This record gives sequence, structure tokens and C-alpha cells, in this order.
Amino acid sequence: MRHLMSPLDFSVEELDTLLDLAQDIEAHPAKYAHACEGKKLATLFYEPSTRTRLSHEAAMLNLGGSIMGFSSADSSSAAKGESVSDTIRTISCYADICAMRHPKEGAPMVACQHSSIPVINAGDGGHQHPTQTLTDLLTIRNLKGRLGNMTIGLCGDLKFGRTVHSLINALVRYEGIRFILISPEELRLPEYIRHDVLDRKGIPYEEVVRLEDAMPTLDILYMTRVQKERFFNEEDYVRMKDFYILDKKKMKLAPEDMYVLHPLPRVNEISVEVDDDPRAAYFRQVQYGVYVRMALILTLLDIHVD
Ligand code: CP
Repeated sequence: MRHLMSPLDFSVEELDTLLDLAQDIEAHPAKYAHACEGKKLATLFYEPSTRTRLSHEAAMLNLGGSIMGFSSADSSSAAKGESVSDTIRTISCYADICAMRHPKEGAPMVACQHSSIPVINAGDGGHQHPTQTLTDLLTIRNLKGRLGNMTIGLCGDLKFGRTVHSLINALVRYEGIRFILISPEELRLPEYIRHDVLDRKGIPYEEVVRLEDAMPTLDILYMTRVQKERFFNEEDYVRMKDFYILDKKKMKLAPEDMYVLHPLPRVNEISVEVDDDPRAAYFRQVQYGVYVRMALILTLLDIHVD
């Protein structure tokens, strides 16, 4: 039995196979419409979500399966003090696979150690968000036709943004990747990723504060919101929250074939005036998230469709 805790749980070859499957699902959805008949997905969300929870549910429904779950800790027995390990033992009696989001780093890992069904990490604190990374990889591959040999600008809250942490871990395995890390001083990428991942693997990167300086050199601009829920005080969040606002004026500095991604939700960091720019790809990214989660569910349940 396999779980998904980190994008590194799949080799590059396995990721390629998974992304190929997602592309086949996009091209031939009817072929997969009954693949999970009789199977149940449980979504265990201890933190708010729109896309991750509902796209897992849409994915299972598109595959002909059924869904169950809770969307906040308050509406589960966690509110009465139940542990993650007891919850997952219980859910293992009801469902065939589950996706868990939790504010504590490592909680889905604890779950998978006590689970008899595959567990998908749907975001754990400021740590990892591997299914967002699968979505990002599929989006980049579809837009650019490759995953290597490109300059990726990561902009915003690089300290707490788990989507950025997972994406870096996944992309450093491809040839010719270079990062521009665009953040305020206080929200720089954590040391353990800069040193243990980028420096150790000899990945070229630059840290800059001004988004304008980076724009002309980018193949992909990955915007992120400032993660309000991870701040210790409101005052710091308010000071940081509008540090970057991508608007039409800044988009003029970017190459014609640069794409803007964002895991969403967006707050103010991308002005709505950018949405009509053909390079704004964040809502296409949302759609890819469903195909890739369909591919993931099939892979973890070891279901093959001819
Ligand atoms: N991208 C993402 O994780 O969005 P949600 O918080 O809405 O699930």
C-alpha cells in the first residue's frame, strides 16, 4: 500500500507516468467514468479548504466512486479530543482511500502509520502540499511542454508557503532548473530548504526583494499569498500582506511566453485586471488539479484502465 506524503514519494519516472495518466484522463474522461465504482474517498480536513477538498471529491465522483468526510476539526470528534491515529483507524473501516489536511506538520504522516488505507497529505501546516505540486507540475508541463530548463520565480510568502516548499523539492530533480526567490526579508525561504535542498544539490538561485527586477528573466512566475493563519500576530500580517501586487504594469515587464501560476486562494497579490491576460494560468491550474487527483487516486488504489 502506498501513501502520498511528499512529492518525493514518487520517482521522476513515476511522476511522468502519473502526469501522462492525468493527460489521458483530460483527453478521454468517459474511459475513466466507472473506474472507481464501489470505492469510497474520505476527506478529513482539519483546516479550511476550497480547492483541495472539493477537487479530491470531484476527482472521486468523476471516477464513479463515492465520497464522505468532514471539512473542519469542529465538526469531527477531534473537537472532543480524539487523536489523529484513532481517527484514521476508524476511517479505515469506512473508506478505501483518504485525503487529510491538518494544521500540524507531520499529522498525515502519523495517520499513514496507523492506516490500513492509502493516505494523501492534502497540506500539513507550513510543511508540504504534494497534490498541489502534482497540479503545478502538470500545469507547467502542459503550458511549457517541459519540466526542465527553465527559470521559475517564486514570489510572496516563501517562509510559510507549503506549496512553494513542495514545488522546490519536486523541481530540483529536473535538469536546468533555476529559481528566483522573490520575497520580503522576513518571509524568505527557510534555511533548511535553501541549504539542504538548493545548496546541497547545487541548484542556481537568486534572492531578490523587487518583483520588477525578476520579471524579464522568468519562464514561470509562481505567486503566493501571505499565509495569514501562520502568523503569530495580526500586526506583522497587515504589514506584509500587500507587499506584492502583480498588476498589468508589472506584466508588461514579463516575456510573452511567461505564465503566471498561483495555488489560490488569492487575496490581493494578483490584481483582477491580470485575469484576462493570456499568460494568467491560475484558473487553468485549478482544472488540472482535478485530472491529476483522478490520476493519483487510480495510482494509489492500483486501478488500471485499458
Ligand atoms: N491551493 C489550495 O490548497 O487551496 P485550498 O486551500 O482552497 O484547498
